[in-house]
Amino acid sequence: MANLYEGKMAAIYDAMYQTFVNYDEEYLFYNTLLQENKCSSILEIGSGTGNLTKRFLADNQNYQGLDYSESMIAIAKEKNKNATFISGDMRDFKLANPVDSILITGRSTSYLITNDDINRTFESIYKNLKENGVVIFDFIDANRFIPFTKENPVIIHEAQFENTNYIRESHWDTNNLLENFMLEWTAQYYIIKNGEKEILENDFSTVRVFTLNEIQLFLYLNNFEILKTIDRETYAYDTYVVVARKKIIV
Ligand SMILES: C[S@@+](CC[C@H](N)C(=O)[O-])C[C@H]1O[C@@H](n2cnc3c(N)ncnc32)[C@H](O)[C@@H]1O
Repeated sequence: MANLYEGKMAAIYDAMYQTFVNYDEEYLFYNTLLQENKCSSILEIGSGTGNLTKRFLADNQNYQGLDYSESMIAIAKEKNKNATFISGDMRDFKLANPVDSILITGRSTSYLITNDDINRTFESIYKNLKENGVVIFDFIDANRFIPFTKENPVIIHEAQFENTNYIRESHWDTNNLLENFMLEWTAQYYIIKNGEKEILENDFSTVRVFTLNEIQLFLYLNNFEILKTIDRETYAYDTYVVVARKKIIV
């Protein structure tokens, strides 16, 4: 698991991603899909520091968040005092009551690195959805991301939040020993002080990117019917967003 979501890095994540991600647009995008499918109860997996939570609550939605980093949940709770957050793992969780919709946001699917991780996640989602419930999630498209990392050995992202400037230098290695289009992601996080870079953290994690065909097959095997596939550019990477409905097994 990345250091990015633990301890002091959770606050740095929160600061930087508010530059990278337009959370108002993100909320509008997901909410449109939820309304199209008449979903009223919502679980957001990978709720992180609660930036979408804030918007769901402002709209009086029946919302809960789930994340497995205590540090991310602590920040999310600080911002959203009335929200419900579950500390849990998307690969194995049980809600008190099933919901109409489950979202996995912000490319949190990248941390499902084995086929078993993915199958367990869809199995848990299936069990926690009501009849006709929908799952909505994004994932990084392997067909575009892998060539991009080959052509760009160092990828720089800059962020500015509350008068502080940050830089992240990322390197993705498609180590041939890794299965399933996993990548080793090394990132250095810096703050800029008096025009100089000062290191904040070195981060290392293993992530996975997917082809659309793989995802279609995982959904089929876990009894979901795809309703919609959206090709979507995000702050840095090309992703797909999939909306799928739980099929009733007879
Ligand atoms: C890239 S962040 C996205 C956060 C938020 N959705 C956003 O857009 O800002 C990924 C989040 O997924 C969470 N996460 C990773 N693996 C998880 C798992 N197996 N179960 C639950 N949460 C997980 C991390 O703790 C982190 O908060």
